[in-house]
Amino acid sequence: MSPKSTLLETPRLRLRTFRDDDVDAFCEYRSHPDVARYQGWSAPVSREAGASDIREYGGTDPSAPGWFMYAIEAKTSGLLIGEIGVHLHENRMQADIGFTLAPAHQGMGLATEALTATVDSYLARGLRRISADCDARNIRSAALLERVGFRFEGLRKSNRHAKGEWVDELFFGMVSECRKPT
Ligand SMILES: CC(C)(COP(=O)(O)OP(=O)(O)OC[C@H]1O[C@@H](n2cnc3c(N)ncnc32)[C@H](O)[C@@H]1OP(=O)(O)O)[C@@H](O)C(=O)NCCC(=O)NCCS
Repeated sequence: MSPKSTLLETPRLRLRTFRDDDVDAFCEYRSHPDVARYQGWSAPVSREAGASDIREYGGTDPSAPGWFMYAIEAKTSGLLIGEIGVHLHENRMQADIGFTLAPAHQGMGLATEALTATVDSYLARGLRRISADCDARNIRSAALLERVGFRFEGLRKSNRHAKGEWVDELFFGMVSECRKPT
């Protein structure tokens, strides 16, 4: 039986709330330069900063407007291997989504599995639209979004100034009526 903290389950994964004992795995993958490269944080992530993030994530409600962070746990090890963040808009009919997987767990379809389960659960709750964006150089992120069924909606040149440079960004969307059954 799944633990009480499990919110979504896939063949290989549990998506659950964050726990204090996730801190080591969380800091390790967030401190990897390839993981942090296109994200809002900079590597390395200290244990103190990681513990503070996890405390904050653990205190939020997935059905309330605002950001909710799903911890991705591998069923085989019971360990944290990544995260999915969902920002539910005030109208509760739209959301933005982001994702991260520890490097050792990439390349096996696990992000596809986690993201598919998450978007399907929000669409099943009646959401009309889910949006995602990424740095135009983040090819793996764009490929993941297209694999899961997001449509490419365009590129904005120099849309953000991050880590000392102007960044071109790709925009993706999924609309409930266009979702193909998986
Ligand atoms: C974005 C990110 C989550 C994508 O991870 P990923 O490992 O490429 O995605 P998946 O887990 O779905 O794995 C897909 C790969 O597994 C392969 N695969 C194997 N079994 C699979 C299956 N059952 N289903 C789908 N793909 C499968 C695919 O062919 C693909 O291979 P490739 O890497 O050779 O193209 C990852 O690169 C990441 O965490 N990056 C750092 C953080 C980041 O930039 N996040 C996005 C910010 S916008």
